[in-house]
Amino acid sequence: MNAVVEQHLRTLPGQVQHRKLNAWVAEICRLAQPDQVIWCDGSAQEYQRLCQRMVDSGTLLRLNPALRPNSLLARSDPQDVARVEDRTFICCDSAADAGPTNNWQAPQQMRATLHGLFAGCMRGRTLYVIPFSMGPLGSPIAHIGIELSDSPYVVVNMRLMTRMGRAVYDVLGAGGAFVPCVHTVGKPLAAGEKDVPWPCNKTKYIVHFPKTREIWSFGSGYGGNALLGKKCFALRIASTMGRDEGWLAEHMLILGVQSPGGAKHYVAAAFPSACGKTNFAMLIPPKGFEGWQVTTIGDDIAWIKPGPDGRLYAINPEAGYFGVAPGTNDKTNPNCMASLRSDTIFTNVARTDDDDVWWEGMSKEPPAHLIDWQGQDWTPEIGRLSGRPAAHPNARFTVAATQNPVLDADWDNPAGVPISAFIFGGRRSTTVPLVTQARNWVEGVYMAATMGSETTAAAAGQQGVVRRDPFAMLPFCGYNMSDYFQHWLTLGQRLALSGAPLPQVFCVNWFRTDDSGRFVWPGFGENMRVLKWILERTEGASGGLEHVFGVTPRYEDLSWTGFEFSRADFERITSIDRDAWGKELELHQELFTRLAHHLPPELTAVKSTLQERLAA
Ligand code: OXD
Ligand code: MN
Repeated sequence: MNAVVEQHLRTLPGQVQHRKLNAWVAEICRLAQPDQVIWCDGSAQEYQRLCQRMVDSGTLLRLNPALRPNSLLARSDPQDVARVEDRTFICCDSAADAGPTNNWQAPQQMRATLHGLFAGCMRGRTLYVIPFSMGPLGSPIAHIGIELSDSPYVVVNMRLMTRMGRAVYDVLGAGGAFVPCVHTVGKPLAAGEKDVPWPCNKTKYIVHFPKTREIWSFGSGYGGNALLGKKCFALRIASTMGRDEGWLAEHMLILGVQSPGGAKHYVAAAFPSACGKTNFAMLIPPKGFEGWQVTTIGDDIAWIKPGPDGRLYAINPEAGYFGVAPGTNDKTNPNCMASLRSDTIFTNVARTDDDDVWWEGMSKEPPAHLIDWQGQDWTPEIGRLSGRPAAHPNARFTVAATQNPVLDADWDNPAGVPISAFIFGGRRSTTVPLVTQARNWVEGVYMAATMGSETTAAAAGQQGVVRRDPFAMLPFCGYNMSDYFQHWLTLGQRLALSGAPLPQVFCVNWFRTDDSGRFVWPGFGENMRVLKWILERTEGASGGLEHVFGVTPRYEDLSWTGFEFSRADFERITSIDRDAWGKELELHQELFTRLAHHLPPELTAVKSTLQERLAA
């Protein structure tokens, strides 16, 4: 370890009196050999200082302060643009515990690999110590993490995405538990070597050790690969914590709905990546819903624990949004656009000639000239001829939740908010109706376990094919998926025994198309009509039609004030096609065969009943 680092470690900041933390930082310094250590304090001054340093070094571009105050643009390496699921590993003791949906490697073997990769990996760079709380500081539902990273881009993003800074050390005290997260871009610098704007490495490893609750990430600076509080901690590691401790870590948005009469409900909804979770979380009630209010608790992740009254209470472990930019506009999500007016970090969007941002779908007509996400000239003509979009399809914004004009008053409440309903949805052009209520908890778990979605750009890989995505957790469950189903069933049984009302479970699909491939349902604000029905159903106050798979509203059960939607179109998006469902159930069986190890027999029983009903 060099003398500068030794000196840093000898003069630890006053608050950090946590022996295990200090020893771990020293150990990682010995291994990674950074030139410098900086203990981040999470202050605005530190944020500005690091941003300025990255502007000076070419990693960030400052956007026009008159148009987009205090906002920045990053362009990543073209090889580092999304989460890398095939390089993501769960290293528990046995492969069976990771299950067939995860990449597994024996912990000892992986540790040896990582040791080799991390040796000297931060040479020429600064190691930042990033203390963060997932969830309101000190909340009984929250947990603490410390990320060690050699990326200043990660530091500034973590400051927007988490409760990050010195106050975390007060909660941690001298011996509090934290999840250690080690991250490197994997590009050490030789003496005098000039850095590149987006350092990364072709070799990538995103590694989780559930038993010791550790995360190690090598080679990527992008999103969920590098902001380790998000998918790695808040979903993969936290799901194993939830399994062990009796709570849920879910890929869910949380929103509040208040009716004109003042009644307030919270729902949590799981959709696979890039299916409009952020839009749903910031929904603006449409015409005909005057006096209704939808407010956001979170747009991506929910931690949910049983409260003293037996109900389920949820927090958003994050403090910001790392959302997909393309497709976001003043029609699809005006609240999101308002959130992005200032103080935002954009990654891989296009730059306009007046130093503002643009992405596909932001406006109908693209500007006449742009600098695309790779720093190249772009015009509509170039785009047409080359097929290159101006912004990468997985271009992102990072923004603090406090910029959201419809942030719920209780978003930071340490006690969380009580959940009335769970909603599961996928992107399905056929088969799955607009909305279906499960008849009971077990059927709801079945619906969630078998949900599928047509793939998008949030993860590297093929786009546009249906992949089964149980609970929208396929890339995020830190243990055997069948054990995870069992965990949901067991929790339901436990809560039912306590006599507390269980949240109702619903399945939605905004994406059914007609014969010409056109979406029949307009989605966005109009989803409020479905949400209202869902809430009425939780109160037993609205009608519906029971069919093979559950209960779906009849045309007259939804409120159509202010909106014309024909019965024929409604039929098109709620009808059950028996042949399609026959095939769908065969695909459920394929999934169950794949997940046979520990698959709860209750789920196979639901499938048999559905098959019998369908055949009747
Ligand atoms: C995300 C994702 O970034 O789900 O939220 O991919
Ligand atoms: Mn997500």
